[in-house]
Amino acid sequence: MASVPSLASSVEQRVSDALVSALPEAGAADPLLRRSDRADFQANGILALAKKAKANPRELAATVLEGLDKGGVIKDVEVSGPGFLNITVSDEAIIRTLAARAADDRLGVPLNASAGTTVIDYAQPNVAKEMHVGHLRSAVIGAAMVEILEFTGEKVIRRHHIGDWGTQFGMLIQYLLEHPHELDHKGGDEEASGEEAMSNLNRLYKASRALFDSDEEFKTRARARVVDLQAGDPQTLELWQRFVDESKIYFYSVFNKLDMDIQDPDVVGESGYNDMLVETCKLLEESGVAVRSNGALCVFFDEYKGPDGNPTPLIVQKSDGGFGYAATDLSAIRNRVTDLAATSLIYVVDARQSLHFKMVFETARRAGWLNDGVQAVQLAFGTVLGKDGKPFKTREGETVRLVDLLDEAVDRATAVVREKAEKVGLTEAEIVENGQYVGIGAVKYADLSTSAARDYKFDLDQMVSLNGDTSVYLQYAYARIRSIMRNAGDRKPVAHPELELAPAERALGLHLDGFGALIEEAAADYAPHKLAAYLYQLSTLFSTFYEHCPVIKPEPELVVAENRLFLCDLTARTLTKGMALLGIRTPEKL
Ligand code: ARG
Repeated sequence: MASVPSLASSVEQRVSDALVSALPEAGAADPLLRRSDRADFQANGILALAKKAKANPRELAATVLEGLDKGGVIKDVEVSGPGFLNITVSDEAIIRTLAARAADDRLGVPLNASAGTTVIDYAQPNVAKEMHVGHLRSAVIGAAMVEILEFTGEKVIRRHHIGDWGTQFGMLIQYLLEHPHELDHKGGDEEASGEEAMSNLNRLYKASRALFDSDEEFKTRARARVVDLQAGDPQTLELWQRFVDESKIYFYSVFNKLDMDIQDPDVVGESGYNDMLVETCKLLEESGVAVRSNGALCVFFDEYKGPDGNPTPLIVQKSDGGFGYAATDLSAIRNRVTDLAATSLIYVVDARQSLHFKMVFETARRAGWLNDGVQAVQLAFGTVLGKDGKPFKTREGETVRLVDLLDEAVDRATAVVREKAEKVGLTEAEIVENGQYVGIGAVKYADLSTSAARDYKFDLDQMVSLNGDTSVYLQYAYARIRSIMRNAGDRKPVAHPELELAPAERALGLHLDGFGALIEEAAADYAPHKLAAYLYQLSTLFSTFYEHCPVIKPEPELVVAENRLFLCDLTARTLTKGMALLGIRTPEKL
């Protein structure tokens, strides 16, 4: 494991050193180095620093240039415009740096020196309810963040805060008690069991709801059952557990379809904090953070007002004594900070819950449960829209079942894979497997390639398209490189720093060298879409390289072929690593 400083950071360091010698009062000023079209990099920071020091920017830039240590890295540097520095690195430095990356399992990506412990709350469906596209977003974005953070050395604790508590369970449990055979299971493979579990739950839900709405006596019994549940009555808890277990069979079948690994100990739902609720309320009330208002325990905020101008409080305990979503989330914060020693809390939750989280975080700060050493962030995501730009619904206006969407994505992807299968030489089993990787990858990538906060249109035609910014495009790029490598015969990937590089080789090389910095940025900003954009650009740069720089035919000189194969290999490794972080597989043949 050896982290490799990128060329950008070496150049930046050198410019910064020269800047300090030229203008000592600037201190450790940032030279604002950017990738540039005119040279490899442009330093834009000198202009502002010169203005501040009342110096002539072009003269300052010239002095910096004069004092710049170029050794081994910088080939050319010139002053341009009002006081920029244009910097070109040497071909040799590019290949040497990439060779150091290639020699490392982590592709030279550094570990974060100030890594901490992140508790991430994601993939949190609700018991006895169908999963929908919102749950898909939370799961996909959350899983990518877990991988990206772990890759930087962060300790990550996963929490699947499933909705497994609340008044609706009174009705469900009472019904099951009166109809005990309703949850009997026939068994079968995972997928069949998942479907069966959900259809059982659906049927139970509808039947108990109907009874609850039509039969006053049942309603009374159901309400009494909620009290039993909260009081911890053993028989009631046992039936409740059956609902949770049945739902988990279904959840796991969907997560499995999504090629996602969810571990049972990480599933700590709302019920997991039940024992803390009374104390949480007591602490809030005693400290004065929460006050009684019409019998309910509330926290007030100056900045949050309803349309009528009256303050909208966070209700921690209802006037009937019941605890809600907020009490659970506040208790979960206490648990995550105190017992799990989190330094960061991330919640991958729908943007429509933003007010809830603002209030919960602020309350926890006032109560001292969150302090300056802990950051709490809602990684809020936008709504999934249908092709018509309206929230995604079936033609009948119902929420679309996640399973149906995934199945359709896999079907379409399999058709796409099948078209080329003969040419590539795929067996039927490989077609089926690739169809899954491409279909599920398409759904994940569509979600991850726009910034989470934005809404996006769920358009399967576009998602499995071979052109444009799609996972299939990236998967094909990967498979193409692997096929080139297979066809290279006894020519092997070897780095040759002595060679002069073509522009397309330099562009590809410099982008590959930026992988570590990109990972650092995506982790710090909680922005998996930046990784998706990086990988897409990597694939397009590879295409241009492959078009202009023959690797196998017409056959180049041996050293040139080896060096190009080396670029191919590092591109493939970077692609497959990046895609794995996004939760997307890259088949060897496609
Ligand atoms: N179960 C909730 C829903 O489906 C999401 C839970 C989010 N996490 C949390 N700690 N509140 O909307």
